Amino acid sequence: MSNPAIDWDSLTFSLTETDKMYISKTGIKAHWQPGDMLPYGNISISPAAGVLNYGQGLFEGMKAYRTEAGRVVLFRPEENARRMQRGADRLKMPPVPESIFIDAIEQVVQENSRWIPPMGKGALYVRPLLNGSGPILGVAPAPEYTFMVYCTPVGPYFKGGMKCIDLLISDEHHRAAPGGSGGVKAIGNYAPGMMPSFKAKDRGFAEVIYLDAEEHHYVEEVGAANFFCLKDGVLYTPELTGTILPGITRDSIIQLARHMGVEVVETKVSHELAMSAQEAFCCGTAAVISPIGSITLGETCAKYGSEPGVLTQKLYDSLTNIQNEVEEDIFGWVHAVPNL
Ligand code: PLP
Ligand code: COI
Repeated sequence: MSNPAIDWDSLTFSLTETDKMYISKTGIKAHWQPGDMLPYGNISISPAAGVLNYGQGLFEGMKAYRTEAGRVVLFRPEENARRMQRGADRLKMPPVPESIFIDAIEQVVQENSRWIPPMGKGALYVRPLLNGSGPILGVAPAPEYTFMVYCTPVGPYFKGGMKCIDLLISDEHHRAAPGGSGGVKAIGNYAPGMMPSFKAKDRGFAEVIYLDAEEHHYVEEVGAANFFCLKDGVLYTPELTGTILPGITRDSIIQLARHMGVEVVETKVSHELAMSAQEAFCCGTAAVISPIGSITLGETCAKYGSEPGVLTQKLYDSLTNIQNEVEEDIFGWVHAVPNL
């Protein structure tokens, strides 16, 4: 098929419909079987589906890149598979085996390869979904499950790419509560963030920072990205208490920074610590590493500067160079998609 009529230089983080999607279904007790590739398009679903009524659903997000070595690679896809399995456990769904998950991702990338942006222009964002698609009226696990994967070419998540973003600490809303579902990628974690995020954007902020729901004192996440700050040479990130999503980018940054000889501390990060730091950034598959220019809490605004900090830039370069196969993949993170 011909190349799509896309201006690769103007890609944003938005949906472009591609050619094919993957779909597999199973009953609650049945074993997952490899699914089928279908033309990308609408699906038919019961109005009584568990996912539509009770939010029994998970999603994942990963990127396929064209690299310097001329290959197409995924970044640590096994970690996405495992995180979806932990989420499935939490939401009482049958976990998708890692082999079926990876095979599905590879097929979606292979069959939509004409949509993978040229190196450095973006990535093919791959979206696996797992949900209770069978009908159920009582609040209980659905009788049937669907595992789907679609993809779309994307550019930067925040406007302007590596431009510093201004963030607002929410003084009213929380993302997740102890014992809840904040530690998995449950679909229901995201809609409650839309109103606070829109309000913050109306005031000129790029996104909201959520504090913990118990003491309203410790930084948890930046919308749908993890948080880091550098103070007096030590890199801090909120510890995984169950209310924070264990980001794969977060884990990679911890390993990269330690490898660079930087002390990394996973701990409770108070807003005072965050706002007195010298550098701050957020990270995720979509966000990559986005430098933070300022954080506002009430009447107080902490400014970190209008350019990415030295360590932020170094970590960004190192992470993206591994992803683009410009730098040696010493951690074994890159997963080449076969036959591309
Ligand atoms: N935090 C939340 C709430 C997310 O949805 C994501 C995105 O997946 C992240 C953090 C970053 O995780 P990862 O680096 O695995 O993409
Ligand atoms: C990701 O970083 O992949 C996410 O899932 C974040 C967001 C687009 C929901």
